[in-house]
Amino acid sequence: MGLPAGARGILTSGGSLSNFSAIVTARHERLGEAFQDGSIYFSGETHHCVTKAARLAGFPGASLRALPTDARRRLVPASLEESIRQDRAGGRRPFLVVANVGTTNTGAIDPLPEILTIAREHGLWVHADAAYGGFFRLAPGGPALLQGIEDCDSITLDPHKGLFLPYGLGALLVRDGGALARAHRDTASYVQDVAEEGSLGFADLSPELSRDFRGLRVWLPLMLHGVAAFREQLAEKLSLARWAHRELAADPRFEMLDEPQLSVVAFRLRAPEEEADRLGPELLRRVNARRRVFLSSTRMDGRYVLRLCVLSFRTHEDRVRDAVEALREEARALLG
Ligand SMILES: Cc1ncc(COP(=O)(O)O)c(C=O)c1O
Repeated sequence: MGLPAGARGILTSGGSLSNFSAIVTARHERLGEAFQDGSIYFSGETHHCVTKAARLAGFPGASLRALPTDARRRLVPASLEESIRQDRAGGRRPFLVVANVGTTNTGAIDPLPEILTIAREHGLWVHADAAYGGFFRLAPGGPALLQGIEDCDSITLDPHKGLFLPYGLGALLVRDGGALARAHRDTASYVQDVAEEGSLGFADLSPELSRDFRGLRVWLPLMLHGVAAFREQLAEKLSLARWAHRELAADPRFEMLDEPQLSVVAFRLRAPEEEADRLGPELLRRVNARRRVFLSSTRMDGRYVLRLCVLSFRTHEDRVRDAVEALREEARALLG
């Protein structure tokens, strides 16, 4: 991810726990023990596990600032700046901004360089929730696509998403590895026999003591296939999503929400508002009932939206063609 030496990481059960440890670390570094006046900024497209993690980390609802997004669902930097200033003027302590590197709804990437500039000016910790999008940095063009991620203070990654591994594999990277230790380290006399003098164990860096051997599950596929295989797969998923977008955009029965920023294609049936909301779930049901692909749905601005997310190592061109064909046929059957 381009972090400097001195960065450290932990493997977690998933993005939710990674985001939790990131918030606890930022809180510990920037606010100390009395932190109820701290403010956390994020866009309205942020995964709900971030607000949940903030709550579990002890923050009241009054600490949370859900900010507006632009037409491509990216956080609007001016609103961040404005919200920080208002909070400061009101005596609060702005301390953390959580930026999306691949939102769940549409794969939107928040403007990291602008967010970093504002955050630096005001002394905020920048956490990237790259649970879904982070590993696309390995694809050709990835560093430019995810520009700024290397300057963040912490990054959540999900190997069980972007490295195609089985569930139960999340990761958190922290630029200043010492911060992770300062926030999590604790000890007791009954662990004295296993604690090595002067060295940090994973229990010193995470909420867990006993834990799974997650490292093996990440290391083995990388050793067996090499990182090049993952780069190729990630590049393929990006291009398949772009292909699916082009195909669906060419069909007048679909209304596309955006060009894919990563590997999610979000769209609606092109029909009057209520009809599209009524027929969308039926379209999804029919396509999934063919048991060739599994598409999902969401609601955005109160409207029903279908999602095609290409993120399995088994999904290649033939399968995405199946998806597009099924969508076309069923949309024709529903709309005529
Ligand atoms: C952007 C984003 N952040 C966080 C999460 C939560 O990750 P996990 O399910 O691994 O806890 C998800 C998806 O689940 C996600 O898409």
